[in-house]
Amino acid sequence: MTVTTDLSETETPRGAGPASMSPRILVNGASHELALDPRSSLLDVLRERLGLTGAKKGCDHGQCGACTVHIDARRVLSCLTLAVQVDGRAVTTIEGLSPVDGELHPMQQAFIDHDALQCGYCTPGQIMAAVACVHEGHATAPDEIREYMSGNLCRCGAYVGIVAAIQDAAPGMLGD
Ligand code: FES
Ligand code: FES
Repeated sequence: MTVTTDLSETETPRGAGPASMSPRILVNGASHELALDPRSSLLDVLRERLGLTGAKKGCDHGQCGACTVHIDARRVLSCLTLAVQVDGRAVTTIEGLSPVDGELHPMQQAFIDHDALQCGYCTPGQIMAAVACVHEGHATAPDEIREYMSGNLCRCGAYVGIVAAIQDAAPGMLGD
């Protein structure tokens, strides 16, 4: 008799969650194949399965930006993204933005230089959104930066420093 322990090959019991799936996710250059409940958010998988706690769970409803990461270099809210959706795609978190033991990313350094944080809870999401904002071409003026960073909330009100940091880092990032 053959007994299977692979949930993906079994019928889902009545009342139980759906069978697991095994997406292959590339996170900060490392490939992971994880058996997941298909309802798992990317944020929960990053934090609870991979131990990458840089992305924060502020609201878990797409309203604060604290969970911002990049997928294929585009910013996304990881709390609203199913982990199975990123099968075969490249995820970058704040932990992968600059090399371990290497120099900080220019945006990280600019946040330090401009005191663009207080408690720091929103900061990983702010920095990931800020990097994307620059690459999208939306960091040419303070008003534009405020508009395109408006999805990232800061309860400490560090907005003046955040805008200044983005203005400072943008030219170097774009090679000006
Ligand atoms: S935790 Fe994702 S937007 Fe707030
Ligand atoms: S620095 Fe505290 S929430 Fe932004």
